[in-house]
Amino acid sequence: MTEVLAPDDAGIRRAAEVLRAGGLVAFPTETVYGLGARADDPAAVARIYAAKGRPATNPTIVHVPDVDAARRVGTFGVAATALAEAFWPGPLTLVVDRIAGAVADATTAGGPSVGVRVPAHPVARALLRAAGVPVAAPSANRSTHVSPTRAEHVVRSLGSAVDVILDGGAADRGIESTIVDARRDDALVLLRPGALPAALIAAAIAPRVLVDRTWRVDALDVPAPAPGGQARHYAPAATLVVVPRDALAATVPAVAPDVATVGIVAAGEASGITGVTEIVLPADAAGYAAGLYGALHELEAARCEAVIIERVPGDDAWAAVRDRLRRASVPPDAP
Ligand code: TXA
Ligand code: MG
Repeated sequence: MTEVLAPDDAGIRRAAEVLRAGGLVAFPTETVYGLGARADDPAAVARIYAAKGRPATNPTIVHVPDVDAARRVGTFGVAATALAEAFWPGPLTLVVDRIAGAVADATTAGGPSVGVRVPAHPVARALLRAAGVPVAAPSANRSTHVSPTRAEHVVRSLGSAVDVILDGGAADRGIESTIVDARRDDALVLLRPGALPAALIAAAIAPRVLVDRTWRVDALDVPAPAPGGQARHYAPAATLVVVPRDALAATVPAVAPDVATVGIVAAGEASGITGVTEIVLPADAAGYAAGLYGALHELEAARCEAVIIERVPGDDAWAAVRDRLRRASVPPDAP
């Protein structure tokens, strides 16, 4: 039975105890909910991979309460230290050289590097401090599905596979952390666009440069270098297409025979199309990101067969949102 707990002192104590004993604890971060297990316990980490159906080749981010704890897990060079000091706690994951023995091999998928993050959410911080161990935590959803921004999304996606869920309400950023490979001071690499805008990272490391190795915005066929950067990802059960606003109406009959099974996600203003289930998200990138996964979960719960999403702007502020929409709209049988 999954225990869903309020994140008060008793809830945090209980969750920390379950973590230390090798259990699985889902907890809120400022980005999305994480599925945590102690990173130094191979059996506990194996339970994460089993619960998510995640390939063992895809490493998991290690969560720690502060920079000192991060330094016990990985080796921080000049640039990595500058980024940690500038943006932690916050929605930035730094890939650094792993310190032998600090976490289980399974956590890093056997690799020599480790992704580390100090989350800003008060519940996550309290839990990490109380647990006193590094916590491996991918997003708390089945592999390739939509990430959870609320405790009930975790329940729907993972159900009884989780021992404890700390219910901290909605995750306010709504989109995952930005991932930077910071192993080399002279060549920092953006591996995943995310809640922390890449432009802020680039400004913090100047004159060092940040090389963008995430997918090109306009090309679906460029492979991503992050192991977890599979084509299909963040995807709801429904067929998902992204079209310009003026094509929304014409797309409805093309995606499903019954208009009642069509969901629409618009930005800023409702489309006015009748008979569909429509969600209108804010027109600014941060507000939109905060609501996107919740909208996809809501349309899935409403059993929409197809979801049509209004195309979002092409500027940098929207890079992380475009990345998620592109991956979510890859068909299930694509490579
Ligand atoms: O916001 C977030 O980052 C959330 C919250 C829970 O912290 N976590 C998250 O974890 O999004 P996950 O597992 O869904 O995505 C982690 C990504 C994967 O694509 C994985 O391949 C990549 O981070 N990653 C982890 N360790 C890595 C490493 N050592 N080198 C390269 N990529 C790594
Ligand atoms: Mg994920």
